[in-house]
Amino acid sequence: MSDEITNYFNFAVDLVKNAGNLISEFRSGCKVFEVKSSDIDLVTEIDKKVEETLIGGLSKSFPSHKFIGEESVASGDKCILSEDPTWIIDPVDGTLNFIHGYPCSCISVGLAINKKVVAGIIYNPVLNQLFTAIEGKGAFLNSTPIHVSQVKELRNALISLEAGTSRDEERQKLVLENFKLITTKGQGVRCLGSAALNMAMVAMGGSDAYFEFGIHAWDIAAGDIIIREAGGVCIDPAGEPLDLLSRRVLCASTPELAQELAKSLKQFYPERD
Ligand code: IPD
Repeated sequence: MSDEITNYFNFAVDLVKNAGNLISEFRSGCKVFEVKSSDIDLVTEIDKKVEETLIGGLSKSFPSHKFIGEESVASGDKCILSEDPTWIIDPVDGTLNFIHGYPCSCISVGLAINKKVVAGIIYNPVLNQLFTAIEGKGAFLNSTPIHVSQVKELRNALISLEAGTSRDEERQKLVLENFKLITTKGQGVRCLGSAALNMAMVAMGGSDAYFEFGIHAWDIAAGDIIIREAGGVCIDPAGEPLDLLSRRVLCASTPELAQELAKSLKQFYPERD
């Protein structure tokens, strides 16, 4: 199976790199967009084109594989995670950044088998950062191995969080409460505007943890395996195992930091994917 996964992964990396050209053409921003679930949840033609390119290429080579793609789900496809090999795709993670020309957008592709992510690719074509991992083979940035930090305590941790793409009042209140927790108890806060790139930062040791309530499977699938292969942990924000469809994530450099955060965070349970 391991050779098969490597074969799927190598094929996907080439596709992702090619599709990255569609994004980097718009490095100064992409001013034409449509609104999705809220006035800050946006989509461009490039999101759709990248997803079509990836699903088109993968399904031609691997006809039995399944897909969960952000834009396909937005157009009405069901979000089903079965035991079959399933590609979980965010064609442009950080669409708002992409629209503004803020250079933190990426293609995020995870491959799940038996409902577990076994390979992941996060590619920011504008900054030429390719984060990759295959189960059991380590995590890499542009082919160089990466590792999480050794930070175990919140007071020493640099933490990423996001306000998300919902205007829901209850959720916004929770974001502010958790923001206050980190600014008072942690060392600092960062918001990159891309769940996948926040996770990549944890994987390479640039930050020590990231959490969000309201994300989707396509935002976190690739980051999950890349962080685990870099030596970190990805769990549910209440301290339980990660559930890819629960729309909740907490990842950290160490289990100690993850559990301290899980005990301290105000919790929110969005509707599942
Ligand atoms: C969004 C980004 C953002 C996060 C949102 C995601 P998108 O993904 O990852 O950082 O806060 O929850 O939906 O919409 O740009 O693919």
